[in-house]
Amino acid sequence: MNISIVGTGYVGLTTGVLLALAGNKVFCIDVDKKKLEIIKSGKSFFYEPGLDSLVKKAINNKKLIPTLSYEESIPESDVVIIAVGTPSNPDGSVDLSFIFSALESIAKNMTKKIIVVQKSTVPVGTGRKIEEFFKSRDKEVDVVSCPEFLSEGSAVIDSINMDRFIVGGDSDNAKQKIAKLFQGIDELNKELDIEDYLEYASIYKKKHQLFFETPFKDRVIFMDLESAEMVKVTANAFLAMKISFANSIARICDRSGADINQVMDGIGMDHRINRAFLYAGLGWGGGCFPKDTAGLIKFADENGFDFNILKAVVESNSDQINFVTQKAKDILNHNLNGKTIAVLGLAFKPGTSDIRSSLSIKLVQNLLQFNAKLRVIDPKAQEGARSMLGDTVHYGKNIEDTLKDAELIILATEWPEFVELDFSRYRNILKSNKILDARNKLDKKKLVKQGFEYYGIGR
Ligand code: UGA
Repeated sequence: MNISIVGTGYVGLTTGVLLALAGNKVFCIDVDKKKLEIIKSGKSFFYEPGLDSLVKKAINNKKLIPTLSYEESIPESDVVIIAVGTPSNPDGSVDLSFIFSALESIAKNMTKKIIVVQKSTVPVGTGRKIEEFFKSRDKEVDVVSCPEFLSEGSAVIDSINMDRFIVGGDSDNAKQKIAKLFQGIDELNKELDIEDYLEYASIYKKKHQLFFETPFKDRVIFMDLESAEMVKVTANAFLAMKISFANSIARICDRSGADINQVMDGIGMDHRINRAFLYAGLGWGGGCFPKDTAGLIKFADENGFDFNILKAVVESNSDQINFVTQKAKDILNHNLNGKTIAVLGLAFKPGTSDIRSSLSIKLVQNLLQFNAKLRVIDPKAQEGARSMLGDTVHYGKNIEDTLKDAELIILATEWPEFVELDFSRYRNILKSNKILDARNKLDKKKLVKQGFEYYGIGR
């Protein structure tokens, strides 16, 4: 098939590259020339494990065509996938302007009936608005909603190992065609060495599962347009709720002497509950959960429903970061003034350079407000963090430089290289033996044995 994908972010580029490797001709459209130049050179412009070599392969075999031009791509395409950003407006509602500006260019350049696949996260009803948009311009399209469930850091493996494929719309024929198209991506698991993409795949799960062992047809769910749109935001809201629930239980564990990791292992074995996304820590951040929960709350409000459960989840998440800040203060005798704190990790989660709504950065900002001296490090997000933190912190050149003179070490983003560190090697450069494991990933017993004062979140 010939396909155009509008938007080359995590979803657009990953999907585009994989569709190209599955044998389709794929135009990746973006308005940002610089990004397109980087893709043309065979690289991704953001860090996503394993993606660079796949981009290179798809560019070299000329199946992936980065372009600014709708004139070049749309007339040739049978399917157009929308994967542009849908940021939050200040009131929490979702800004759809990038979608509709892309639709203008698509409508102007289409020369035949096409399938428009909506992959950007949107409020329910957007698919119908897209249908109306084309109808009012006398253009024939089938609109299909195809929500995306990949996570940053494991985008490739999530795409070639889908737990489910949701496709919504009115046209059975269009839905079948799109399911077939994405089955091509799923089947790449036979060609690619999945070991190359697993490093960050089970950070928030007990273990990684191979869903592709179940036939693709049994993982496809066909549904109506509105339901498919609803699935996406419901999944993200539910996952955010799971995390906040775990964080709240962690706060009770802190008061009761229980260990949250053991408690969650205990309830996670209940197959009705499941261990995934019950890892307590700083709270949830990133480009999706904050935006999608705000959007769903706003949508409910506008439609006369007070979504008080989700409101409480959002509130509890903002409170969690203040709780961790307070914990750091308590550890350092309620006074951070002039104290040196080493913060390990700045990305919103491991495996990505993304710092959108990163709670590690929020934590640094909170600590700066109390006049602490911060030394920070991140394997991939250091440059991005500079745009937020400027010269207010010392950017560690390496671990040693970051930990120098630290009176408190905080593990803020659980990169494996930090989790596996032998902190005892750095004892002579530390000013104190205090460690705050804000992601509950360090080996508490070992650290205590080595003479460290260990603090976790509910441990
Ligand atoms: C999330 C969803 O997991 C994806 O399924 C979805 O496709 C994506 O949003 C999206 O809407 O595009 P992502 O934001 O990349 O993916 O990352 P997650 O792994 O979900 O983590 C989100 C945040 O929750 C991170 O800050 C992470 O540190 C935190 N988290 C996650 C926890 O604190 N504890 C957990 O147990 C799980």
